[in-house]
Amino acid sequence: MANAREQLYASLDVGTTKVVTLVGKANPSGSIDIVATGYAPSVGMRKGMVVSPEAVRESIASSVQQAERSLGRKVPPVVAGVTGSHLKSRNSDDPVNVPMSVLPANGRFNEASGNALGSAGRLSDAVGMRVVQAVPRSYNANGSGDADSSGMFGKSIGHGSHIVMGDVVSVDTLLSTIRSAGVSVHSLALEHLASSEAVLTSEERLMGVILADIGGGSCDIAAYREGSVWHTASIPVAGQHFTNDVAAGLGIPPNAAERVKLLYGSTRFERVDAKETVDAQSGAGAQARPVHRKTLNRLLHDRAVELVRLMMQRLASNGLIRIPSGGIVLTGGSATLPGLAEIVADYGKCQVRIGVPSSVWGLPEELANATYSTSVGLLLWAIRQNAAAGERSAHPAAAAPRSGGWFSRLMGRQPAGAGV
Ligand SMILES: Nc1ncnc2c1ncn2[C@@H]1O[C@H](COP(=O)(O)OP(=O)(O)OP(=O)(O)O)[C@@H](O)[C@H]1O
Ligand SMILES: [Mg+2]
Repeated sequence: MANAREQLYASLDVGTTKVVTLVGKANPSGSIDIVATGYAPSVGMRKGMVVSPEAVRESIASSVQQAERSLGRKVPPVVAGVTGSHLKSRNSDDPVNVPMSVLPANGRFNEASGNALGSAGRLSDAVGMRVVQAVPRSYNANGSGDADSSGMFGKSIGHGSHIVMGDVVSVDTLLSTIRSAGVSVHSLALEHLASSEAVLTSEERLMGVILADIGGGSCDIAAYREGSVWHTASIPVAGQHFTNDVAAGLGIPPNAAERVKLLYGSTRFERVDAKETVDAQSGAGAQARPVHRKTLNRLLHDRAVELVRLMMQRLASNGLIRIPSGGIVLTGGSATLPGLAEIVADYGKCQVRIGVPSSVWGLPEELANATYSTSVGLLLWAIRQNAAAGERSAHPAAAAPRSGGWFSRLMGRQPAGAGV
């Protein structure tokens, strides 16, 4: 149980397959103590979006209540993740000069943030879209050396911003569903950027890197160039499509397909003996059901190739023909499908690694798993946002946090140019 006076932060990752609640506190040393967690299977989400609010409400309530039981009190207002193919992103010449609390607590795009975002906010509202997030696109642009290299926190740096807009109805449905479960929302954050925050290094961002969070319902991409986010996209293809292909291709129910995928699946089929079989029974005690392993892997391979092609096409259509030298970092539950990283490396002609939330922040072992990248990233976001705001208000003359301050330690790295 947490001390009543401690400042607690919370994140809520409403995924297509699971809802994760994390509550943590930040130590002055820069590490994070996770003080409560909640996990529930997700029902009612499709491709990263709410399709059955009532079912999603129950999943959220179950996850949050689990965290509240170990916490001994209500979870603080959460930073919740948002994704889905309704999102549109673009780069703007307008700088962002407010710390990004993304959406105010009432979920409405307010005048202050509208002004800060310039024409982007007003335009997007006019066409039924809402600014979900805007992040600065350059850091250290003025040579002051104290900017934030994550690109997550606003500071007037004059080199433009990356603006993500979402369909008003989809965003409002997510917010109202979370609130209907009795949970206060501090702000929303893009799931791709949250995952990036948990798994990418600042060196990778500087070199240029592509993050792909392949979950159950969507493959969320964030491309970084010269240290800043440059493109974000959500492709509605992920783990559940792999499972559906296995179910259809082997003529077995979806739960059996999911099980056989997790137990035996791989994209490597060439060297598998055509006679080898594995058991695709739907659960313990169910009737044995042998299926050919080569067929299983071939189905997974074909879907993986299809997904990687979609990723490359999406990047190419946005001007990114060659993968930057930081390569591709895969995360999300589906990133761990054996052989997938090889296919991505083949098609992207680049280095590929599987990214998990880094343990440098003192995270428990079980959260150092690709499935939890978004959840951990959202929590980091909540903590750092507060730290950045605190340091800014403590030093109002400075437009950004001081080098060497609490914020810098939480970043887990020295800000660019610090000490120069
Ligand atoms: N070892 C594995 N091999 C293949 N697939 C896996 C493996 N482990 C997990 N998965 C898949 O990962 C998916 C869940 O990933 P994750 O928890 O990141 O999704 P999510 O956050 O709920 O969904 P989304 O972010 O897309 O809304 C499931 O489809 C599951 O089958
Ligand atoms: Mg996810």
